[in-house]
Amino acid sequence: MKIGCPTEIKPQEFRVGITPNAAQEAVAHGHTVLIQAGAGVGAGFEDTAYTAAGAQILGTAKEVFAAADMIVKVKEPQAVERKMLREGQVLFTYLHLAPDPDQTHDLLASGATCIAYETVTDRMGGLPLLAPMSEVAGRLAPQVGAWTLQKANGGRGVLLGGVPGVSPARVVVIGGGVVGTHAARVAAGMGADVTVLDRSLPRMRYLDDTFAGVFKTSYASAGNTIELARSADMIIGAVLVPGAAAPKLLSRAQLSELKPGAALVDVAIDQGGCFETSKATTHQDPIYDVDGIMHYCVANMPGAVARTSTIALGNATMPFMLALADKGWKQACADDPHLLAGLNVHAGKLTYAAVGEALGLAVTTPEDALKL
Ligand SMILES: NC(=O)c1ccc[n+]([C@@H]2O[C@H](COP(=O)([O-])OP(=O)(O)OC[C@H]3O[C@@H](n4cnc5c(N)ncnc54)[C@H](O)[C@@H]3O)[C@@H](O)[C@H]2O)c1
Repeated sequence: MKIGCPTEIKPQEFRVGITPNAAQEAVAHGHTVLIQAGAGVGAGFEDTAYTAAGAQILGTAKEVFAAADMIVKVKEPQAVERKMLREGQVLFTYLHLAPDPDQTHDLLASGATCIAYETVTDRMGGLPLLAPMSEVAGRLAPQVGAWTLQKANGGRGVLLGGVPGVSPARVVVIGGGVVGTHAARVAAGMGADVTVLDRSLPRMRYLDDTFAGVFKTSYASAGNTIELARSADMIIGAVLVPGAAAPKLLSRAQLSELKPGAALVDVAIDQGGCFETSKATTHQDPIYDVDGIMHYCVANMPGAVARTSTIALGNATMPFMLALADKGWKQACADDPHLLAGLNVHAGKLTYAAVGEALGLAVTTPEDALKL
């Protein structure tokens, strides 16, 4: 199969869909890998790394889209990229179609087969192609929160780990899933005094069994949340209610009860944020002040560490990419119900129920799409 990887064109996107390592594996499987010139530069991969891996470099996105049987990307295709998709071509990338009717209509019109990273599942009921980005955002959260706490940035001027004779900072993580667990581990590793709040008792049992002595857990009742928030230097918002906007767990009025200069890092901002005063910010201008409380609310945190994020995403997508290329998308999806769960669009039909529901469009089951 000819596998194509264009340069990402969404603003501030520095990741790339195929790493040189993934290219090398695909070439070893007998496939042709076509990389747009410069596609990997934002993530620190020069064209020479791809040619050394056996890939070919093409000058433009147009050439990549025209030649490839399958396009592997990171972000959803932008309008100009959607025009280059064609019937029979496979697109493997993040799509997030539910809030995006324009993209959905264009993909349906293209006739292409579109498999979304974010809806591929695993045996544990998890989302294996979303998890790496949650791991990155979680581990980054205490790092950006520590920076936010610095005096010059409007913070309390507190060092996360303290020093001998000075207590460490108190960090409260709300939500103990993938983001929250990684955030808590890193904050504890930096020497902070960390408590994780969650509403799931099985999850807290797991956290307690695994991380006793590293961080504490507490049930996320409204009372516990505000009590712990009052004494916190940093609060990390990491909740997720699947398919719903993030619940608001701290109100504007409650900000007056927090320590002046405390840092709120709202990782859940991509689902609307879990603090009433959160609004999405960018890497260029990441923090703002509300009532003396410093908010960090960047919606695409993994973009700050594009190289790590690219490699982490590539590790997760590669086995699926190879299955799609080795067997063809139909056989690969027929063999693996978790990959089939990623099918969102095929030959002009929408195949993902939640997207149909969100956009009021008719849906064909993925199983029926395999027969088309
Ligand atoms: N800003 C970014 O760049 C970025 C990157 C990755 C993920 N995210 C977001 O981070 C959030 C967390 O993602 P995740 O992968 O860790 O999800 P997850 O499903 O692994 O974990 C979410 C946790 O929140 C808990 N929870 C739900 N409601 C709660 C409540 N009211 N109080 C306390 N806990 C509650 C759940 O029990 C679960 O343990 C999501 O909104 C995700 O979209 C943002």
